[in-house]
Amino acid sequence: MKRGIRSYVLRQSRTTPSQQRALEQLMPAYGIEYQPALLDTRALFGRTAPLVLEIGSGMGETTAAIATANPGTDFIAIEVHGPGVGSLLKRIDEQGLGNLRVIRHDALEVLANMIPDGALAGIHLFFPDPWPKKRHYKRRLVQPAFAALAARKLAPGGILHAATDWEDYARQIDEVLGAEPLLERAGGAGARPATKFELRGLRLGHTVRDFHFRKRS
Ligand SMILES: C[S@@+](CC[C@H](N)C(=O)[O-])C[C@H]1O[C@@H](n2cnc3c(N)ncnc32)[C@H](O)[C@@H]1O
Repeated sequence: MKRGIRSYVLRQSRTTPSQQRALEQLMPAYGIEYQPALLDTRALFGRTAPLVLEIGSGMGETTAAIATANPGTDFIAIEVHGPGVGSLLKRIDEQGLGNLRVIRHDALEVLANMIPDGALAGIHLFFPDPWPKKRHYKRRLVQPAFAALAARKLAPGGILHAATDWEDYARQIDEVLGAEPLLERAGGAGARPATKFELRGLRLGHTVRDFHFRKRS
């Protein structure tokens, strides 16, 4: 994706009072401010554990469920949408999730500037915005430059797990990730809880496809 072309549009959707409260009061405790400097994840979580990054966590229900089910892994969720970030902060607080933190910023910049090369055990990309109109394809997140960046940030053996319910985007994901020399197909490694956007796609009769690519050792 060319610099300046974003994979999202910030819509003025309503932030509920409790999401707003969470953004104001909980961000200092569970959020990470964006800054163009590498993160010290050991200091952040107070331990050395596998680290998984989620891109576009939406309302965060799946993110919180995965973090709860995997207490030995640390998770960083990245999302630009305020209500979604507020909602996830609330979940972290209510469920006492010490292994999950949130960054409210463009995931491409976070990946490029805050994540050390080879630091990630996994990247989750569940139902990225499909941008179905041809003139918007350039906004799709999964493009060759993204594949190269994601591969660089994964540790050898780390898994990029992507899912979509848009047939045409599924083809693009398969082709683009399949063409990245540092990645190889990993078969059906690991199930995941259903996401909000996935359930909407299923209601529309869409077929869901999951992709697992492993960083070559
Ligand atoms: C279609 S929604 C899917 C949300 C969630 N993963 C789910 O399946 O329910 C895509 C999400 O990605 C977020 N997003 C898109 N591009 C992003 C970017 N570059 N950085 C961070 N978040 C992004 C959007 O704000 C949106 O919430």
